[in-house]
Amino acid sequence: MGSRIAIIGTGYVGLTTGACFAHLGHDVVCADLDPGRIERLSQGHLPIYEPGLQDIVEAGIASGRLRFVVGAAEAAKDCEFAYLCVQTPQGDDGSADLTYLQAAAADIAKVLPAHAVVVNKSTVPVGSTKVVERVLGRHDVSVVSNPEFLREGSAVSDFLKPDRVVIGSDDPSAATRVASLYSDTSAHLLVTDPASAETIKYAANAFLATKISFVNAVAAVCEAVGADVNDVVLGIGYDKRIGHEFLRPGPGWGGSCFPKDTRAMVKIAENAGYDFNLLKGVVVVNDEQRERMVTKVRNAVGGNLAGAVVAAWGLTFKANTDDLRESPAIAIIDVLQSLGAIVKAYDPQVSQHPSINVGSDPYEVCDGADTLLVLTEWDEFRWLDLDEVKRRLRQPNIVDTRNLLDRSAALRSGFSYQGVGR
Ligand SMILES: NC(=O)c1ccc[n+]([C@@H]2O[C@H](COP(=O)([O-])OP(=O)(O)OC[C@H]3O[C@@H](n4cnc5c(N)ncnc54)[C@H](O)[C@@H]3O)[C@@H](O)[C@H]2O)c1
Repeated sequence: MGSRIAIIGTGYVGLTTGACFAHLGHDVVCADLDPGRIERLSQGHLPIYEPGLQDIVEAGIASGRLRFVVGAAEAAKDCEFAYLCVQTPQGDDGSADLTYLQAAAADIAKVLPAHAVVVNKSTVPVGSTKVVERVLGRHDVSVVSNPEFLREGSAVSDFLKPDRVVIGSDDPSAATRVASLYSDTSAHLLVTDPASAETIKYAANAFLATKISFVNAVAAVCEAVGADVNDVVLGIGYDKRIGHEFLRPGPGWGGSCFPKDTRAMVKIAENAGYDFNLLKGVVVVNDEQRERMVTKVRNAVGGNLAGAVVAAWGLTFKANTDDLRESPAIAIIDVLQSLGAIVKAYDPQVSQHPSINVGSDPYEVCDGADTLLVLTEWDEFRWLDLDEVKRRLRQPNIVDTRNLLDRSAALRSGFSYQGVGR
């Protein structure tokens, strides 16, 4: 017998969580604020692109185990578990803004059935479990922290086959009930106090951002000393203590989580009296990496960006998502445009953007450009015809911020090629 689960928020995390729980046999009601979004979701039209999600949403709706309603209270009034999956954006001082979380908790406070468990899946600083408890003001309801580690682009498989599930609670019975929801996922289960669970999420993202900034810094050294970062990563990665995972140089990290979560962790540490210099350095390296990519484009077009035409492949913050939040591609294009460059962009998941000219064909955006600039590691870019690209460009230049294209093939085709760290 499945459990009755309310999901508050139908973004990347909420929609994936709701559809996956329905897939696992639970009875799920998902809520959001926008009636139009709920109407479209009820008909199986997804507001986001996430591989595999369309199929399990459709299957969930067809089975009757996945429903969509307007308003958190409507979803929570008959639930055993209420999952808070709302956004926690960066506040003005760098800390996480809990306004949406508190509002969602307030929405469900009066309607929650007795003995329901409120599960906080949003990424929130230490102490937020207590904040939700205070807003709820209910002694017959437990609050549990259950941070989410899914990656956009592979959210469904990450949810169904997680590396681990972390549950933070001072109430062993509530923790056991939440753990039982994941019994079919064969994940490592870690039950902690709420502060540890909340810290685990930030520490994980801070560490991952550190890995990328580290390899980007090594890439800068490689360029300076004439080494190839791809070989360096291969060489260090065979050391089991280091490993190869998540050590790809690129234009810097972005997306909806790392930028706000690294800054929030710096703030959490600061508020607790610790100056997290290492993580501050990680953020600085990331900002510098974007500037380094702009310099590569400037060099490729002969030293002056004013009037230079740039064909940009990729706008999303990484491949296999439509998410543009804090995308390094957008940040780099913004700088190029502010310096006078004329950018024409192509992305498989983006057809328009308020400040960027977006084309519908990867070759067409190359017409008359002074350089091709690869910004997102979409697999399809690997297989495009470089000779056709060369025919369309005004100058045969490639700046490949993802080391995605075949460098030897590009050089053979007569391109001048700049990657990262090689
Ligand atoms: N996106 C990721 O890859 C990811 C991964 C792990 C953790 N997280 C964390 O999960 C949380 C959600 O992230 P997201 O990317 O899914 O956010 P999102 O912005 O895509 O979705 C949040 C949704 O919540 C809805 N919402 C807000 N207040 C509501 C309310 N009172 N009632 C009903 N709906 C409400 C919004 O309308 C929106 O649709 C954040 O804390 C984020 O840091 C995100």
